[in-house]
Amino acid sequence: MLRPAVCWLPRLSLPQPARLPRESLRGFSMMSQTMARPQSLDEFDVDFRSPIGIGNFGGVYPAQNRMSSAEVAIKLMSPACLPPDGRVGRTELVAGIGLEQQLFDQVLRDDISHPNVVDLIGRFDGPAEEADMLGLDLPPAAFEEPLHYFVMELLEGMSLQVHVEQSKGLPEYEARSVTRVLCEGLEFLHQSGIVHRDLKPSNVHYSHGGSADAAALKLIDFSTAGVVPQGASIEHAVFDEHVGTPGYVAPEVLFAQKRGETYNAKCDVFSLGCTLHAMLTNMYLPRRHAHLGIVINKELGMTLSPDGYSFLSSLLSLDPSERPTVSEALQHPWLQEGVSA
Ligand SMILES: Nc1ncnc2c1ncn2[C@@H]1O[C@H](COP(=O)(O)OP(=O)(O)O)[C@@H](O)[C@H]1O
Ligand SMILES: [Mg+2]
Repeated sequence: MLRPAVCWLPRLSLPQPARLPRESLRGFSMMSQTMARPQSLDEFDVDFRSPIGIGNFGGVYPAQNRMSSAEVAIKLMSPACLPPDGRVGRTELVAGIGLEQQLFDQVLRDDISHPNVVDLIGRFDGPAEEADMLGLDLPPAAFEEPLHYFVMELLEGMSLQVHVEQSKGLPEYEARSVTRVLCEGLEFLHQSGIVHRDLKPSNVHYSHGGSADAAALKLIDFSTAGVVPQGASIEHAVFDEHVGTPGYVAPEVLFAQKRGETYNAKCDVFSLGCTLHAMLTNMYLPRRHAHLGIVINKELGMTLSPDGYSFLSSLLSLDPSERPTVSEALQHPWLQEGVSA
């Protein structure tokens, strides 16, 4: 039997969440799309009883800004809130919090956004007692240090993973539209000095419910993102941390630390290839064979168009130097099909 989560589960019998005193209005004003940088939990009504999503690194909760009424999603992270199944240890969680903070700081400093990347609104820390008062069940260790909050645009649609599973795989034309949109989001991140490093269907969400409109897809989850130092170019940026998800992670990322090697932004291109493979095959991942390299699902060789197959194979090149950059991938004939000049 699964052990219950110590941290992210809401309490069973809950009083209405207590409103904390709103000691100041902090000059909040609703801008056209965004809101002023939030400073504390006090500025939101958060529903800790109904998590929107629980990941390896944090729980995400719906919230409403008290001043503007804007609906947002708040990701809560604490080094004490470890997933119950031991998938992530404290050291990894502390590192994930640091990476998410760094990424938020860079995006907020540069004031950048893209239609295919979730909008980041702000981040702050707060005492665990505050969340405890609002009904969040926290382990005792969480009270020894601040909780970390990351405020984002609320995405109301499903994840790409759910869509692919419900559709039992996507037809080629739809997988192409999704891939083009993911490339556009990734290109923006890379041009902004950010490498996602955990691209997979569960880290891609539709911004609104109803139809699965590829244009409404957004990349989420920056708890393993790599940030290029200010002034450095993405072409020369290298990393060595072991991050990512089995089945989607690029081979050079898997071995970097062990072999004392580094990897670059092309790791996202490999994960894009795995994501495309998953979309086309209803989540079967390309297999890795010690001698043959990457083995693409046999059926795809028969059903996918030659352009589609060549595109997918290029993304899954074992050698990153043979993989296209995201901008090069966007120029591939397969992604150009159906695009009017
Ligand atoms: N902005 C958002 N709007 C709606 N749901 C979200 C948002 N961000 C994350 N989620 C949901 O919460 C889950 C966990 O968030 P994520 O950032 O991926 O955390 P982790 O780093 O732990 O994987 C996601 O898989 C998704 O279902
Ligand atoms: Mg995630």
